[in-house]
Amino acid sequence: MSQRTFSIIKPDAVRKGDTAAILAEISKAGFKLLAIKKIVLTKKQAEGFYYVHAERPFFGELTDFMSSGVIYPMVLEKDNAIADFRKLMGATNPAQAEEGTIRKQFASSIGENAIHGSDAEETAAFEIGYFFAGYELK
Ligand code: TYD
Repeated sequence: MSQRTFSIIKPDAVRKGDTAAILAEISKAGFKLLAIKKIVLTKKQAEGFYYVHAERPFFGELTDFMSSGVIYPMVLEKDNAIADFRKLMGATNPAQAEEGTIRKQFASSIGENAIHGSDAEETAAFEIGYFFAGYELK
């Protein structure tokens, strides 16, 4: 069944000029790009997005990084989109990511790992709503 997931091309990948190559991988894997925008988050906005990690030791570094430059949040659509996109992204740590995954190809480190993808239906719903209004998803 067709499902939506949420993704972000992170500041490291944007700075390296990999945005178009990553979008091409996503398209090649069969995802439809339903919506995309170009923004720079404030530190507070990054903290709100990653609130589930607020108590983790890397929270400060993560939210500094995510507010350090342009990002491309987007909504993707496909059968089984959430699980399939997690597979396409690869492991959080690129050293452990499988060949052919986006993180294997484009990520630099566990912190600067090129791409975000929702990990469950409830998180996808929260994350889509954090960045997009209903009228932008028609
Ligand atoms: P997490 O949700 O565990 O990973 P994923 O992005 O694969 O779903 O963590 C969210 C982000 O937090 C991760 O993409 C990068 C950052 N992070 C670190 O900087 N250090 C860490 O040890 C972990 C686990 C995550």
